[in-house]
Amino acid sequence: MKTTAILNLKGGVGKTVTAINAAAILAGDYGRSTLVIDADSQCNTTDFLLGGAAPNVVTLAELLRAAKLTGRSLPENWGEVIVGTELEKVDLICGSDQLMDLDLSAVKTGEVSATVLRDLVAKLEQADLYKHVLIDCPPAFNAASAAALVAADEVIIPIKLDAFAIQGMANLLRQINNMRKINPGLRVAGLLPTMWYMDPIILQMEDELRKTAGVKVFTPIRRSDKVNRMTFEQEPLRVYSPRSAAGIDYRAFVREWLEDQRFGGGAGK
Ligand SMILES: Nc1ncnc2c1ncn2[C@@H]1O[C@H](COP(=O)(O)OP(=O)(O)OP(=O)(O)O)[C@@H](O)[C@H]1O
Ligand SMILES: [Mg+2]
Repeated sequence: MKTTAILNLKGGVGKTVTAINAAAILAGDYGRSTLVIDADSQCNTTDFLLGGAAPNVVTLAELLRAAKLTGRSLPENWGEVIVGTELEKVDLICGSDQLMDLDLSAVKTGEVSATVLRDLVAKLEQADLYKHVLIDCPPAFNAASAAALVAADEVIIPIKLDAFAIQGMANLLRQINNMRKINPGLRVAGLLPTMWYMDPIILQMEDELRKTAGVKVFTPIRRSDKVNRMTFEQEPLRVYSPRSAAGIDYRAFVREWLEDQRFGGGAGK
């Protein structure tokens, strides 16, 4: 089992679109059972994967708070936090707006446990339930993203190529590096340029990123109107528009990513 956090502190860079489409491809094309964890209080992934049905279930926020409630790290009924989705072989741990209240100080005061997600991931691994766990992180470094980085084997960083993105990257890589004190095995699987289009400045930025980032840069995901449409249709690109530019590119990305995993590749930074 591989646990991957999809993280960028910048908003609107394609984290959620990447989590949803990667999960659909892993499950649908490769037959790999996948658990998606929605760590964002906006709950875009939860709404998408549950078809808008309001979930009346235990969510990630309650799980993160469980340490305080139970005095143990992981409650015994941890299995109740997982729900099925509209997609075959894709399960979900729901986000909720309560995640908004859990800022980083909640970890310091002990209100939430940064290790409870790691304990859950260990249980899942023991139970051999999933091949992949994908954590859709919020655009902030809060308790949920910290818990994700403590639990994850690796991070994928979707990035929209603009000047602000490059500026934020050094800070993000530093934060990830800091988390290695708690999770020494954490690695960056790579940067994934999203919403890419043919333009000299974009090509120049991509080139610069490849030279300076010090981590792998995946082949980009092209910009495509079908992505926005997909969010209304509530179907992943694999189903809704597999031949769109982004539909093709997400498949190619997953292939490239899995190849890297097979050969233990990706920069160790
Ligand atoms: N390849 C693409 N082509 C065109 N539009 C895209 C593409 N990828 C993402 N988008 C659009 O960009 C917007 C942001 O995407 P998404 O919600 O995945 O970002 P996010 O990083 O999860 O945002 P947040 O930080 O708010 O959680 C959405 O409207 C989505 O439809
Ligand atoms: Mg999102």
